[in-house]
Amino acid sequence: MEKILKLVRPNILNLTPYSTARDEYKGPLGIFLDANENPYPDADGGGFNRYPDPAQREVKALLAGIKGVAADRIFVGNGSDEAIDLAFRVFCEPRTDNAIAIAPSYGMYRVAAAINDVEVREIQLGADFSLDTAAIRAATDPHTKLLFLCSPNNPSGNLFPRAQIAALLQTFPGMVVLDEAYIDFSPEGSSFLGEIDRYPNLVVLQTLSKAWGMAGLRLGLAFGAREVIDIFSRVKYPYNVSAAVQGIVAARLAASEKVEAQIAEIISERARVMAALEASDAIAKVYPSDANFVLVRTTGNPREMYEKLIAQGIIVRDRSRIPGCEGTLRITIGTPAENDKLLETI
Ligand SMILES: Cc1ncc(COP(=O)(O)O)c(C=O)c1O
Repeated sequence: MEKILKLVRPNILNLTPYSTARDEYKGPLGIFLDANENPYPDADGGGFNRYPDPAQREVKALLAGIKGVAADRIFVGNGSDEAIDLAFRVFCEPRTDNAIAIAPSYGMYRVAAAINDVEVREIQLGADFSLDTAAIRAATDPHTKLLFLCSPNNPSGNLFPRAQIAALLQTFPGMVVLDEAYIDFSPEGSSFLGEIDRYPNLVVLQTLSKAWGMAGLRLGLAFGAREVIDIFSRVKYPYNVSAAVQGIVAARLAASEKVEAQIAEIISERARVMAALEASDAIAKVYPSDANFVLVRTTGNPREMYEKLIAQGIIVRDRSRIPGCEGTLRITIGTPAENDKLLETI
């Protein structure tokens, strides 16, 4: 752990975090005159006149049960985008340190790096979106603090081989942030969540925005070593997840059967959509997917197909201008009826 703490920026390691009224008094309910709140509860009983729990204890307790991870290994934020930003703020000295990311991949790694004035060294994936672990290692230097891996990767949809990720965890000199936003659509046993004990340099990101159907609520998760999660929690805004969101998320996490059925349907629809796309003359290639979307290379001009789909009220993502994704569109798996309409139109 000493090695990990050495990666943390000294100002962050020495930070005295803001202490909220709720941090200072955790006892039973009483007359709260400690946070300058309006004392009158709202008419709808929401309790929103009070600040939310800064430690999100109820949500974390439920997540701990669902994920099989101790609550103090879980960071909860305003989408996983908050955790991505925090990784830079915690580990990377602006204009000095650097991070490594794969390309093509999720665009926020690059944006968060730019906001934090941190250099990102992008390592291009192979033509089949395979991972070049040697190139990643070769790109490191003594100022390399972070590696962002996304598996299944967005926009390509593929999981990277477990052995390759494990090898990087063993040899990478900094923190490995493994973004598993789409892991619920992957075969069982694909996640590295069970490995956070073995690798103190591993931070696993997950989100409630995809399989869990709560993108509008904004709740992202980071899992890792207790010490790393503790530092993330000290750096975050004290009340980073609203009381409304904590309440709705807790209720939905407690009733997860519907989500499991939806995931199963999306996975079976993915197979159906992929098979139909493969059979279509308009599609030159369907890339393998372990996520809830599929990347396809069109036979003709992808922009033309994109516009034609829009004319029919179907909006997909044009990824054709991203290096490595030339000629491609990314299509999210919808409901069976939505997928029917897509396939008919294509
Ligand atoms: C790989 C990946 N990570 C993270 C996110 C963002 O997740 P959140 O909604 O939790 O911020 C996305 C959203 O598209 C994504 O594709």
